[in-house]
Amino acid sequence: MTQTLLVLGSANADLVVEVGRRPAGGETVLGGDTVVLPGGKGANTAVAAARVGASVALVGAVGGDGYGALLRESLESSGVDTALVKTSERPTGIAYITVTPDGENSIVVSPGANADVSKSDVDALSFEGASVLTCSLEVPLETVIHAIDAASRAGVRPVLNLSPVAELPAETLRQLNVLIVNEHEAAQLVGSDWRDLLRLGPTSAIVTLGSRGAAVVAQAGVVEVPSIEVDEVVDTTGAGDAFAGALSARLAEGDNILQAAKYAVKVAALSVTKAGAQPSYPTAAQIASLG
Ligand code: RIB
Repeated sequence: MTQTLLVLGSANADLVVEVGRRPAGGETVLGGDTVVLPGGKGANTAVAAARVGASVALVGAVGGDGYGALLRESLESSGVDTALVKTSERPTGIAYITVTPDGENSIVVSPGANADVSKSDVDALSFEGASVLTCSLEVPLETVIHAIDAASRAGVRPVLNLSPVAELPAETLRQLNVLIVNEHEAAQLVGSDWRDLLRLGPTSAIVTLGSRGAAVVAQAGVVEVPSIEVDEVVDTTGAGDAFAGALSARLAEGDNILQAAKYAVKVAALSVTKAGAQPSYPTAAQIASLG
């Protein structure tokens, strides 16, 4: 293993349709043409990190189908090492996504091959050369818990994007170097005082605040990192994954958490100005040009 960043998580084909508004229960609305794009929280995180220059490998699974080929192509063309992405008997995971005119999305995920990412895949990993392992939760929870434990024992810093939210063992939370949650997840976990996130056990935490940026929670206190202004919000799909990927990339390069968060809010902000998740992620040069 020569990659400094390992990402463990899902890879999905995103079937995206624009709608004027979301249907209520029992209602049908007509939308635009369906667009198929590479997505999945793990693959998105890995691609976002690679685009800003990280040396990154994804641990995950896709099916032996066309959607799996689409994902491999997106990962590889972005520079993500896919040697640890296995081909499952199950179909590639699919996310059914509706996007409304304000750029907001609603998502239903059919996990498919992602359900096959297993503890034995973690046991087969070499952590040699890695400094950060970043996980998200569209793969089996027991695999994520096992990976965080293995990374922690190997001296690799575990980062967890707790999305979608799930209950974790106290020991897993204590092993985390960085816990990433959004405002709603933070409220579910600890209420309104974000400093209490550290009482759960992680060394530090980040609360993502959408268009407002992010808050870094460390022993020294809470520091808000404002976002940058963007002209137009086209699609917020995968913005949280863009943040997690860029943050992880910078941590693996040796930035402290505040420096990494300042960089990651810019990456997340640019990602909402284009459609889709992976196709919207900026390069290091684009971030540098912001000054
Ligand atoms: O976070 C955005 C991602 O969530 C989408 O790409 C979709 O695949 C779902 O996993």
